Amino acid sequence: MSVLDGKVVSEKIQLEIGLELARLRNEHGVVPGLAVIMAGDDPASRSYVQSKSKLAEKIGIRSELVKLAASASAGEIAAVIAAKNADPLTHAILVQMPLPKHLDPWAVLDRIAPEKDVDAFHPLNQGLILQNRGVIFPCTPLGVMRILDHYAIDPAGMDVVVVGRSFLVGKPMAAMLANRNATVTLCHSRTVGLAAILREAGLVVAAVGKPGFITAEMVRPGAVLIDVGINHVAREEDFEKFCPRSQYEGFKKKGYAITGDIHYQAFAKAAHYTPVPGGVGPLTVTMLMHNTVELCKRSR
Ligand SMILES: NC(=O)c1ccc[n+]([C@@H]2O[C@H](COP(=O)([O-])OP(=O)(O)OC[C@H]3O[C@@H](n4cnc5c(N)ncnc54)[C@H](OP(=O)(O)O)[C@@H]3O)[C@@H](O)[C@H]2O)c1
Repeated sequence: MSVLDGKVVSEKIQLEIGLELARLRNEHGVVPGLAVIMAGDDPASRSYVQSKSKLAEKIGIRSELVKLAASASAGEIAAVIAAKNADPLTHAILVQMPLPKHLDPWAVLDRIAPEKDVDAFHPLNQGLILQNRGVIFPCTPLGVMRILDHYAIDPAGMDVVVVGRSFLVGKPMAAMLANRNATVTLCHSRTVGLAAILREAGLVVAAVGKPGFITAEMVRPGAVLIDVGINHVAREEDFEKFCPRSQYEGFKKKGYAITGDIHYQAFAKAAHYTPVPGGVGPLTVTMLMHNTVELCKRSR
């Protein structure tokens, strides 16, 4: 079994982005601009937004954070999006999810101009992906594809099982893998016989949000395991359940652990796997930067 190291892939892509930024600056005098719109002050969202701004600054993308109150109305957020849609210095717009409960996320996301839709959540961009004419792809599935490509794992002809059907990860992931000629089964909470389906898979992508959900018994020997899940585990009995013995004393001291959706014991059966942390996670923010540069290039 070998580890598919997301940090290595992420650093390589950041170098490529750096070269592209230098080219845009030198040849066209342009710096890509990313606007992040956040309503409310959810601590997890704040930390995601900070990590996005930090990476943008590090690699030379202009990023701007527009903070709105948790009580912001649909009209207020629509006005900010309209202003950014019209701003020539903003090439990419991201609305941080989740939004406060009184706001309809679809109604908000639909307002982002498709040509500035950095997360590829707009129906036009998602539709183009289904038609294999995608121009911009959601960051996490795109990161998974980049990991596979980096390690020369060609999904063509493989039996792939994607577990989870969110518009953020599972559905676009399934479409992107089918576009690359994989035979894809998309599973979800109503799937019957998931374990048997998983045992047939040469490649598994787990995006469920439940620690250790896919166990060693569900995995075919020699499979490729891609773990998208990011689960915050804080109960002491869960450290022992979901984390390798060598690590859980450390987690006990820290008070929490971050684990994936695939149980660590399953990795021993795999040909290749992405760890959590350090697998898909690092790619997601990097692909956001990639998409910002891509949208800037397409705007020209
Ligand atoms: N690595 C990264 O950068 C990154 C980025 C995004 C998300 N994530 C992580 O990925 C995970 C999934 O995120 P998400 O936004 O896609 O979550 P989500 O919107 O909550 O979707 C979870 C999916 O899992 C399915 N599911 C739940 N219980 C199941 C079960 N018992 N059997 C089979 N399927 C089941 C759900 O099925 P139904 O549709 O039937 O409800 C749903 O489709 C989370 O841990 C999240 O934190 C990581």
